[in-house]
Amino acid sequence: MKIVQVKDYKEMSQKAAEVIIHKVKQENRINLGLATGGTPKGLYEAMIEDHRKNGTSYQHVTTFNLDEYIGLKEQDPNSYHYYMAESLFNHIDIPKFQTYLPNGLADDNNHECEQYDRLIQALGGIDLQVLGIGQNGHIGFNEPGTSFQSSTHIVTLEESTRKANARYFNTLDDVPTHAITMGISSIMNSKEILLLISGEEKADAMQKLLHGEISEDFPASVLKRHSHVTIIADQKALSGV
Ligand code: GLP
Repeated sequence: MKIVQVKDYKEMSQKAAEVIIHKVKQENRINLGLATGGTPKGLYEAMIEDHRKNGTSYQHVTTFNLDEYIGLKEQDPNSYHYYMAESLFNHIDIPKFQTYLPNGLADDNNHECEQYDRLIQALGGIDLQVLGIGQNGHIGFNEPGTSFQSSTHIVTLEESTRKANARYFNTLDDVPTHAITMGISSIMNSKEILLLISGEEKADAMQKLLHGEISEDFPASVLKRHSHVTIIADQKALSGV
């Protein structure tokens, strides 16, 4: 794993945007894996700013998001469909039909999971996957204990994850209990991974990732087995290392 140390959230976002914009400009076709949460917001803002200023085009880009809550409508401001539309897709020139997220309202969730993995493979796999990390080491919504062999699946969210994400909802009760997430093996199939880590509340996770063992109890540790991972981490995230 290559570690790029940066000063703060702003610099992390800027650096991540540079990596993505460079790839997008270089390739004739590219599949990006995208994440939600607070961490990639600044990255998406930097991509939008670059699109406005420099005209970087996303017409040849296809995106696959990591996860979606079960039971929220696309128009629900807390759904990841809504987050992605508002935070990125509505502000760049990517065609909507080239942006994929798991459907959290499918009639048959297991079928939806299988279809999502099949679709990613059929369209050529993910070239570059952006990841954040949960305080407990989760990636996507793969909570501690998830099999490293897992493909896209349904998860019961840990209480700690629901609490951490409750800041976006009116009350903790409004936070869904289940989600659909790309599995660990789906994530590991990406050709390249860009992990963004910022802030004091991630310092423990950063420390465990760098110094802990590879274990399903700490999902992000699997990334040590991937041959092309870049971590961009800020000073606060690195404060415990
Ligand atoms: C959420 C998302 C993850 C994200 C993580 C960290 O639950 N499902 O994809 O990486 O938690 O979120 P944040 O960036 O807001 O700290």
